Amino acid sequence: MKDASAATAPETIYLADYQPPAYLLETVHLTFKLSPSATRVISKIAFRPNPEATDKRFFLHGEGPDLKWAKLDGAPVTPVVTDKGLTLEVPDAPFVFEAEVEIDPAANTALEGLYLSNGMFCTQCEAEGFRRITYYPDRPDVMGVFTVRVESDLPVLLSNGNPVAQGDGWAEWHDPWPKPAYLFALVAGDLVAHSDSFTTMDGRDVALNIYVRAADIDKCAFGMEALKASMTWDEQVYGRAYDLDIFNIVAVDDFNMGAMENKGLNIFNSSAVLASPETATDANFERIEAIIAHEYFHNWTGNRITCRDWFQLCLKEGLTVFRDQQFTADMRSAAVARINDVQALRARQFREDAGPLAHPVRPESFVEINNFYTATVYEKGAEVIRMLKLMVGDDAYAKSLDLYFARHDGQACTIEDWLTVFEDSTGRDLAQFKLWYQSAGTPHVTVHDSYEDGSYTLHFDQQTPATPGEVDKAPRVIPIAVALLDRHGKTIAPEQIFELTKTQDSLRFEGVAAKPIPSVLRGFSAPVVLDRSALDDTRLVQMAHDSDPFNAWEAARELALETLSAMALDGTPPATAYLDAWRQMIRNEDTDPAFRALCAGVPSVMELAGHIKTQGQTPDPSAIDDACETFAQMLAEHCQDSLPRLYADHQVSAAYQPDATQAGHRALANRVLGLITRLDSGAQAQAQFDGATNMTQQLAALGALVRAGKGDAALDAFYTQWQHERLVIDKWFGLQASLSPADTAAQVTSDLTQHADFTAKNPNRFRATLGSFAANTAAFHHASGSGYDLLADWLITLDGINPQTTARMTSAFETWPMWDADRQAKMQAALRRILAKDGLSRDVTEMVTRILPDP
Ligand code: TRP
Ligand code: ZN
Repeated sequence: MKDASAATAPETIYLADYQPPAYLLETVHLTFKLSPSATRVISKIAFRPNPEATDKRFFLHGEGPDLKWAKLDGAPVTPVVTDKGLTLEVPDAPFVFEAEVEIDPAANTALEGLYLSNGMFCTQCEAEGFRRITYYPDRPDVMGVFTVRVESDLPVLLSNGNPVAQGDGWAEWHDPWPKPAYLFALVAGDLVAHSDSFTTMDGRDVALNIYVRAADIDKCAFGMEALKASMTWDEQVYGRAYDLDIFNIVAVDDFNMGAMENKGLNIFNSSAVLASPETATDANFERIEAIIAHEYFHNWTGNRITCRDWFQLCLKEGLTVFRDQQFTADMRSAAVARINDVQALRARQFREDAGPLAHPVRPESFVEINNFYTATVYEKGAEVIRMLKLMVGDDAYAKSLDLYFARHDGQACTIEDWLTVFEDSTGRDLAQFKLWYQSAGTPHVTVHDSYEDGSYTLHFDQQTPATPGEVDKAPRVIPIAVALLDRHGKTIAPEQIFELTKTQDSLRFEGVAAKPIPSVLRGFSAPVVLDRSALDDTRLVQMAHDSDPFNAWEAARELALETLSAMALDGTPPATAYLDAWRQMIRNEDTDPAFRALCAGVPSVMELAGHIKTQGQTPDPSAIDDACETFAQMLAEHCQDSLPRLYADHQVSAAYQPDATQAGHRALANRVLGLITRLDSGAQAQAQFDGATNMTQQLAALGALVRAGKGDAALDAFYTQWQHERLVIDKWFGLQASLSPADTAAQVTSDLTQHADFTAKNPNRFRATLGSFAANTAAFHHASGSGYDLLADWLITLDGINPQTTARMTSAFETWPMWDADRQAKMQAALRRILAKDGLSRDVTEMVTRILPDP
């Protein structure tokens, strides 16, 4: 952490300082007397001293609850209360602590702890929100068995575990599984349920409910199917069954993240669970399926086995993301899923790893833990497990996971525990592998080859650029999947995993009749930047024939990146051979339409900027944006004769299904529509918009029209049609902010923030507007600096409302080192303006301080 200003600098927490808790829990009884501005929480907690603790002081976290009274073993006591918690003299023996506090859910706009969302009470306790509800040892290695009584006039009253009893105005819940406070949840509202049931492999009947407001009951069916599919998959693939009589999901409109895995009571951002064909796109459906699976899978990886402390966050998140990625690969196309995951990894995690916010998958210090729910912890954390599985093999992975569950069920664990399981079950030494958890930065791997007398050799070297606070990087173990192909894609040497453990090493093949085509890093077998520019350029062949679909896509991607970079840097036009190959690729009816749609995707301005930066040049967002426009226009003209036929062939006539097959056809048809719109002034897009019967078609058409500058009438019609569907109106805000041209987008976005439907209090709406604007790279980085100013102004406003979401959005500024001196100066000035705000939250202070260069 850079020195903010010593006097006010918030405290930094270090992994190395971990101490076991002084007191452990037996049982926890909570009573909530709900009232919007004056909720009372009565707690009765049975503690016992922890024999393993050295520090015996009794401390309960608490930030905000107004303590009314406290008792120790039934006798009134007066604890010492600060703004961080309370301390009290307690006996060195088991005792019962009781307290009553008052809290104000209606005033809670931070959406942490207990808050109100459209008249509904709900909670968000991860990571440290429970301390805003009552005084408690709010750390994940302190686990208790909870019994919760909820008192309210609202009709639906929910908490964790199984229902025990209920009556007029109250309900009682009991969770038999000991859990940390971050998994506590409570919901009270005027809700209806979409219900179903599931019988587990061990014969337990489980009631399933998705609770929503009455108007949303028609948007639950898909989520319910995804839940049942997740439950089946976890039984079949990981041997894990559900462990309560009921599993509830609740949709909440105001939520800082996607969803939360509270035991037996998952709480979801409505955008992550509600879907109907009319209101949600194929991409929304796919995301919902993945998030439902993710939260459900946490029941074992997160809840039954939890984290010892928050530095171990990747223990549950990396593993659970990996599991949800495996699930999506099994439910849909594995190749398409992998390409999507890698694109997301590069866009978010590589960017983070290359900038001032780079940190290890397991960080070693933090100020505010909410700032470490990052792409590195989640997505790179998943990649690390994918590599581990590749290195030990599928059977050893399965055996290790069985051992992990058997050995650590009911415990709060560390990454050391996780790796020890793999070492014990495979006999491998994972000391070098552990660097993936401990060291930040994306390794750069360079490959070149040599061929002589039937002997073919691949030479690799690795180097990881410095990251903040970590200059010298030891070599890591990098599993590189390699196969050799001939010019028709036929296998010469089958895929093998080469483990690069040193700075330089090589892999030799004997008896190779002719110089082969190397297919390297197949399936993106490690999260590295691969420089293969020293190899012969075989990418046109690989794009058409590589037996690994990821590498076929990668070849197309690299060609697009190179073509566009050259156009942006000095106006070099695309090679005709490349344009021909592109046309061939999109017309190739032998390949999956979804895969073709991905190959036809043009890299984003940000991806191109990153690519240009890696080449040692300074990217110009405006020139890149122009190159992308010109390129798309050239593709449209080059493929002109094929487009109407392609568009027609991939229309889906069957009733809408959000499955991978139909979605693939729509994805390809909509890519083609984008090209057609460049040739017909929007006629086809307008026709698709007017005739659309599902949101995927409607939104794609609207996007094409807005891009072409022909969207005004359609935008109005869209708003009129959907003004009562808040999730659709989020799309309306988002599309305008993200697709408006660079010169006008800041004004368009600023106008949107004046719209009657804009509110900074709803994170979805705020992200749809300002977040989409920040992702409109050429607009956000407009040379005038207007983009930086607009975002900084709004982050300053939002900080007073919702520090967590504000802090996440400051990462729009993390790319400052990429740009020219003028943009760098303007970005840093905007950050300093944020930092200068009086009473800036700890969350945002930490982020901005980390992003800014050392003073
Ligand atoms: N544990 C959640 C998940 O990944 C993440 C989450 C939801 C979260 N809400 C949060 C993290 C609030 C921090 C703060 O599934
Ligand atoms: Zn998670």
